[in-house]
Parts: sequence; structure tokens; C-alpha cells
Amino acid sequence: MNKDEIIQQKYIQKAKAYVEEYKKLIGHEPSSCVVTFGCQMNARDSEKLCGILEKAGFILTDDENADLVVYNTCTVRDNANQRVYGRLGFLHSMKKKNPNKKIVLCGCMTQEESVVQKIRESYGFVDLVFGTHNIFKFAELLCDMFSSDEMVVDIWEDTDKIVEELPTKRKFSYKSGINIMFGCNNFCTYCIVPYVRGRERSREPEDIVNEIEKLSKDGVKEIMLLGQNVNSYGKNLDRDVTFADLLRMVEKIDGIERIRFMTSHPKDLSDELIEVMKDSEKICRHLHLPLQSGSDRILKAMNRRYTKESYIDLALRIRKEIPDIAITTDIIVGFPGETDEDVDDTIDVVRRVKFDNAFTFIYSKRTGTPAASMEQVDEQTVKRNFDRLLRVVQETAREAVSKYEGQVMDALCEDVNEHDPALLNGRLSNNTIVHFPGSPDLIGSIVPVRLTECHGFYYIGELCRK
Ligand code: SAH
Ligand code: SF4
Ligand code: F3S
Repeated sequence: MNKDEIIQQKYIQKAKAYVEEYKKLIGHEPSSCVVTFGCQMNARDSEKLCGILEKAGFILTDDENADLVVYNTCTVRDNANQRVYGRLGFLHSMKKKNPNKKIVLCGCMTQEESVVQKIRESYGFVDLVFGTHNIFKFAELLCDMFSSDEMVVDIWEDTDKIVEELPTKRKFSYKSGINIMFGCNNFCTYCIVPYVRGRERSREPEDIVNEIEKLSKDGVKEIMLLGQNVNSYGKNLDRDVTFADLLRMVEKIDGIERIRFMTSHPKDLSDELIEVMKDSEKICRHLHLPLQSGSDRILKAMNRRYTKESYIDLALRIRKEIPDIAITTDIIVGFPGETDEDVDDTIDVVRRVKFDNAFTFIYSKRTGTPAASMEQVDEQTVKRNFDRLLRVVQETAREAVSKYEGQVMDALCEDVNEHDPALLNGRLSNNTIVHFPGSPDLIGSIVPVRLTECHGFYYIGELCRK
């Protein structure tokens, strides 16, 4: 353990004493609820928060009536922020009925100065605010919160620290995300992530492998390696290690049956990675390869550092090498200066690559990013182009997903279907969801399923023996 880890272990013990006192005050076992907004990185951070809360003596629940509620926020688009403000209002009304309720705000939103100012001014009922860089000291911050009558705010501008060995509480028994790197150095001109997550830092491969070995011993079958741009993994380490090298190491770990990763930046995707994926028994047949735009002019203004044709070449090369792979993407509509012709280019890429799924976003202006000061596109044009793109995306995705109808594929049983408890939700290697009749004790196992009927983006299937 390093110095920070030892200190934080001590704070967990100290927090436990505070939670004991809190229990006496409220007269029952204290409960806590962590709500995640945003991406898989945030979801993984929430598991760390839950681990610390549990060790400190809180019962974990999904109910926001809990004694302590943490909002782990996202700020990638403005609607993410608005959702948080709306729900804070709702927490406030709960706190009026239960003044001992504790409200904690953390994550990407709080890394923005203007947000913290707004919280101080208009959301004085919040008890603790911290950011993305100091999440490792959550136990210490809980102690500060319990010993203070005022809002505790602790935000770091950046960090070079990587704190390992803290408790985590996984949401799923059979699958887990693993951070392989933090931060981002790409500065796409629309994106706020580099400002709120700091500079790129890779974890040492041994630390990653050790963590996955432990997870495997604990019953985890599927792992997802997490980073804003996993293809640049290792670049800031002292030794020569690439993402493809890391995958080879992870592939050797017994008990892990499926390996996924998020996200791949097209500019850094190496031939070596395609080779490793092609030869692997464990790496899932799914690649998320964000396109953002199909127009060279817009890609340049976005600072994406690839062109329409180089993207198409790459995607088609991957499809040729790994024919059963699903390629999914992210697309932004309405980036400053975007014309109908630019969107035509994007649609052309969608038709040629035939994405298995595409997440389409309306451009959201983020204060402090270079694109915020560029000339914005009017709302009507954006809306019209968004609808035009979405129609093509849905058409091609339906076609791509349905091509496996009638086949038998392995599915990892994830949970019971929320609409029909007789059905299980399973996930195929290519990330498509299949619903099929099955008993809940199959959850966590990988079973063969016949894909009987394609319903657009998912399948209805039946369990079968191969
Ligand atoms: N690191 C990942 C993406 C992280 S953000 C990558 O580079 O692919 C997830 C997605 O949100 C992005 O791919 C992008 O499509 C979208 N996004 C980011 N900033 C946005 C903004 N200002 N407005 C709209 N969408 C945005
Ligand atoms: Fe944002 Fe670009 Fe970094 Fe992705 S690669 S997080 S889009 S700056
Ligand atoms: Fe959102 Fe932060 Fe992830 S801004 S998308 S939660 S890195």
C-alpha cells in the first residue's frame, strides 16, 4: 500500500465512528444511495464510493429516501447538468421532511467552477461537494462532512495520483469495469472531458492484471477495460507497453471469459490491435469506434485527426479481418458551422460502414471549450439534420442486427427482464441483447441461445443445447 492508501484506510475507521454517532442520532441503521449519471467511468467510480460507504457502516440501497444520497454527476452535455439540478430540487424537498438527511455531490460537473458557485449560492442544503481527482479520499471527506455544520467543498484542479487498493462494491457479481487509464489528452474542440478529468494517466499493467485476477477469483466472467481512449494506453508509462500488449496479458487470466473495452479513438487504432482481437477467444466481437462526423471539414474543426475516408478504410478493414464483429459509434449533429452537405457526408459513412448501432447526440455548447466560441448552428437546422440522420441510422442498424436471426449464439445471462419476469436478459458477444425464457439461477452464466426473432435492436430467443 502507498501512503495515500494507508491514510485512507485510517479515515475509513474514523468515518465508522462518525456513522455510529449518526446512527444514534437518527435512531436506525443509516442507509445510503449512490446515483450515477454519465458513462462507465462514473459507474466504476460509484462502485468505489459504495465500497467506502459500506465499509464505513452504511447499508446500500437504490432508494433516494436513504439517509445519505450521493449524486455522481456528468457534464458532457448540458441536459446531463439540467437533470442533476432538477433532481437536487427533489432531494431538497425530502430533506425538509428529514433534516438529518445528507446530500453529496461529486463527479464531472463539480469540476466546473461555475457549477460549484451555483451550488453554493442556490443549493445551500448540499452537505458535501468534491470532484473527480480526489474521489479516493471520500472516507476523509465524509469525516469532514460529519464534523462540520457547513457545506464542505473540496475540488482539485488536476492530479498525477493513481490510488489503488481501496474498497469497491460491485453492482454486478459476474461483470466489472476496470480503469486502465484516467483522463484525456485529445481535446476534441466540443468536449469538456479533458477539463474535468485531467491529463491522461495509465495504470501499470501489473496493477491492472492483479485487479482482474482478484475479480476472477471472486466470480467475475466479463470485464470491461475503461479509458477515454484505450488505444493510447501506455503512452505515459516509462516502459514500452501498448494496449494490444495489455490485452494479451489480460487474455491469459484464468476464469475471465469475456473482455470488452471502451472507448477506441479511430486515430490511434493499431493493426496490432486488430490482430490481437482477431486471434482472441475472449475479446468480444464488438468495437465502439466514435465517428462524430463524416465531414472532413467538421472533423478538422473538431480536432479529431482522421478523415472520412481514413475512418471508412479502417472500419471496413476491421470488418474484413473480423467478419462477425459489431461496430457501433457516436455521432454529433449540429457542431458549429455544420451544413446540410456535412451531414450528407456523415450519412454516407453510416450507409457505407453499416453501423450495428449509433448513438446520435445534438451538439451541446460547453463553456470553456474552443467550439463554444465558434458560430453556432440554428436549432431548426440541427433538428432537421438530426432526424434525417436518425432515420438512416435506424435503418442500417436494424439490418445489421437482424443478420443473425435463426443462429445459436452464447449469451451472458445478466438479469431478469423488468417487463416480463419469465424472461432473462442476455448479452451476446457482439453486445446485442436477447430476451429468452429462463430461470434466474442462470444469471452470471454463459449459455447458448437460439436467436428466433429480431425486434429491431434486440432479439427474442430460446435456450438451447448446441
Ligand atoms: N472518449 C470518448 C467519448 C466520451 S464522451 C471518445 O472519444 O470517443 C461520449 C460521447 O459524447 C462522445 O463520443 C460524443 O459523441 C459525445 N459528446 C461529447 N461532447 C459532446 C458535446 N459537447 N455535445 C454533444 N455530444 C458530445
Ligand atoms: Fe472527449 Fe475527444 Fe477525449 Fe473523447 S477523445 S473524451 S471526445 S476529448
Ligand atoms: Fe460524463 Fe464525466 Fe463520463 S462528463 S461522460 S461522466 S467522464
